[in-house]
Amino acid sequence: MTKKLNILVVAGDGIGPEVTAEAVRILESVAEMGYHEFHFRHELIGGVAIDAHGSPLPQATLDAALKSDAVLLGAVGHNKFNALPPSERPEAGLLQIRAALGGFANLRPSFAWPGLAVNSPLRPEIVEGADILFVRELLGGLYFGEPRHWDKTTGSAWNTMRYTRDEVVRVAKVAFELAQKRRKKVTSVDKANVLEVSQLWRATVTEVAKDYPGVTLEHQYVDAMAMHIMNSPRSYDVVLTENLFGDILSDEAGVITGSLGMLPSATIGGKVDLYEPVHGSAPDIAGKGIANPIGAILTAAMLLRHSGGLEQDAEAIEAAVKKVLDQGYRTADLARGDKSASVLSTQEMGRRVHEALNEILSRRQAMHAV
Ligand code: IPM
Ligand code: MN
Repeated sequence: MTKKLNILVVAGDGIGPEVTAEAVRILESVAEMGYHEFHFRHELIGGVAIDAHGSPLPQATLDAALKSDAVLLGAVGHNKFNALPPSERPEAGLLQIRAALGGFANLRPSFAWPGLAVNSPLRPEIVEGADILFVRELLGGLYFGEPRHWDKTTGSAWNTMRYTRDEVVRVAKVAFELAQKRRKKVTSVDKANVLEVSQLWRATVTEVAKDYPGVTLEHQYVDAMAMHIMNSPRSYDVVLTENLFGDILSDEAGVITGSLGMLPSATIGGKVDLYEPVHGSAPDIAGKGIANPIGAILTAAMLLRHSGGLEQDAEAIEAAVKKVLDQGYRTADLARGDKSASVLSTQEMGRRVHEALNEILSRRQAMHAV
């Protein structure tokens, strides 16, 4: 079955363009081998868009995004905008595109790759077998709540953590439905011992859980959860969080996976699904050709799975990544000073995954031919 997909690529700032180029090469290969038609269009977002058009989300980018089947984003953010208020920074472009596309459930899988256990700062017997899927609510909470303001005359500032019951219901359903296909456990994260918003969150998730009797629900406070996922990452299956808690815990989960540079994400539930690696623009290493492209490559796999319905191709990409890691290839972030590791550049890592993928896909084609 061949597939037609119009993909908008917004590579953005910092290491965004370097890692996204590798992800696009992988998608091109999948298209070629499977006779699919993937059309790529490129537009600006973030700091590069501010520089070129004075806006972090130019109208042309937004229009192209709404017309596409999927949006593949690299990263946004640059230190040179640090003095600007949040509404004028590169990050505002990302929040605006998220809101415009409407995806409210941000899926962030964190998986302990067997080959990387030796490079993890956690002991291998702690991380081995860990496989967590964070479902982060992406359109509510402190990120979008009003009022928000920094009053420089009085020296006070405020943001609003706000959720409606409906916003919690819709994201909780996504978490329970995904848990049904996995190990049937949802851990809902909140701060219900202090915050009213979290009390609403907890009560609502508890209510939604009644429709999923086969799934076990547990609640954890966010501070305790930050510790538990390091102590016993294997105890968790689907972890459901509000926006900010999910932002924080998913970076922490990079430790389980070996590096933040490994983590992909997919945002679903809106008009057009949005795919972005979890790592940011990493200005300190941008342009050096040393960034890890695997987060972006695995993000491309999520795109094929969720927007393309191409599960087998998504699995082939994941298998290619596994193979390359098993062979001992590492980018600098993964090697962590391991002298025996073969440390590759961004492009070399991309090429290794590409080669492994082509091998897997050709073998598959040969099997189908007989
Ligand atoms: C992420 C990022 C973004 C977020 C920033 C860049 C706005 O940290 O996707 O995790 O906070 O959501
Ligand atoms: Mn983040």
